[in-house]
Amino acid sequence: MIKPINIAILGATGRVGAELLAVLEERNFPVGVLRLLASSRSKDASLSFNGTSYPVEEATPESFNGIDIVLASAGEEISKRLAPAAVAAGACVIDNSNAFRMDPEVPLVVPEVNAKALHNHKGIIANPNCSTAQLVVILKPLHDAAGLKRVIVTTYQSVSGAGKEAIDELEHQTRAIMNNEDYTPLVFQHQIAFNLIPQIDKFLDNGYTKEEMKLVNESRKMLDLPELPITATAVRVPVVIGHSESVTIDFEKPLSPVEARQILATSPAVEVWDSPAEGIYPTPVEAAGADPVYVGRIRHDTSSPNGLNLWVVADNLRIGAALNAVRIAEYLVEHNLLKQQVTT
Ligand SMILES: NC(=O)c1ccc[n+]([C@@H]2O[C@H](COP(=O)([O-])OP(=O)(O)OC[C@H]3O[C@@H](n4cnc5c(N)ncnc54)[C@H](OP(=O)(O)O)[C@@H]3O)[C@@H](O)[C@H]2O)c1
Repeated sequence: MIKPINIAILGATGRVGAELLAVLEERNFPVGVLRLLASSRSKDASLSFNGTSYPVEEATPESFNGIDIVLASAGEEISKRLAPAAVAAGACVIDNSNAFRMDPEVPLVVPEVNAKALHNHKGIIANPNCSTAQLVVILKPLHDAAGLKRVIVTTYQSVSGAGKEAIDELEHQTRAIMNNEDYTPLVFQHQIAFNLIPQIDKFLDNGYTKEEMKLVNESRKMLDLPELPITATAVRVPVVIGHSESVTIDFEKPLSPVEARQILATSPAVEVWDSPAEGIYPTPVEAAGADPVYVGRIRHDTSSPNGLNLWVVADNLRIGAALNAVRIAEYLVEHNLLKQQVTT
């Protein structure tokens, strides 16, 4: 019998926090103590888990005593401030924010791609950015088969990737426009309803956005290809849940669409939906609430002899955050890699 694992969710009242609770429940994770943490705004709230109501507490450096795993989704600043205190208290932190992803001491992990990196953790483990997580699940098996030479990715990212207030903004703005009423955007700089925005996160000196450079740098780190030529354009679209990506890949060796379909059909966490003549390809509405990374429209890139084009869709809250974090937690438990398991 598996020993119960004491869990703290930092950011429990957020969109990723809600999904973390749902995924822990669905997968029957052996939760012992469950501590739900958020800001002082939520200190009178309560949330339900497995039919029991739990109070939400204000997160402080003292919140982690007796906790084995912290699932952190309260943003970069909070992670930087509280993760070291959690590690000092004996917990492993699985962090959804950007705080530690490029730290060479911190494993950046999608278990289907590079679970081995978890064996070297020092207390903090980073989850990749949501659009990177679904991309590397597809790139890894194709790289193993034919060698990645160059990758071009354009993302179509849902508003839930920007948190619960962004979902509210899309809903309220859509309603306001339909009713001919005024609406002042609070989250996005431009109208998101009936529109799209070619900017996610802030612009950097090189003309790319921070989100685009996360895709580049995190993919290189997880695939262990530090020089991989990869470029990205990240676009916010008026979809509630589910990120989509158009991916163009040049390979070192020829790889036909048939071979790519066969490889991906047997790859972990991937489902191939690819019968365009019958209108079969993945869309975000179908991916929302589901676990796989879906891939379709696999076709030869007519501009390149060893090139393929693919369409990749996944639930950003699950594979891009909560499901990936819980899969990491399961791996740590299964391989005795929790801090207490390692040090005793
Ligand atoms: N959404 C995605 O698809 C996705 C995917 C990958 C990674 N992430 C990352 O996950 C994190 C959370 O994203 P989200 O979409 O869940 O955002 P969200 O819906 O806005 O939720 C933010 C959470 O952080 C808490 N929080 C804010 N300030 C805090 C403070 N001072 N102390 C403690 N808790 C605080 C909030 O608590 P209150 O309710 O009390 O304000 C809330 O629980 C971000 O770092 C994001 O980049 C998100």
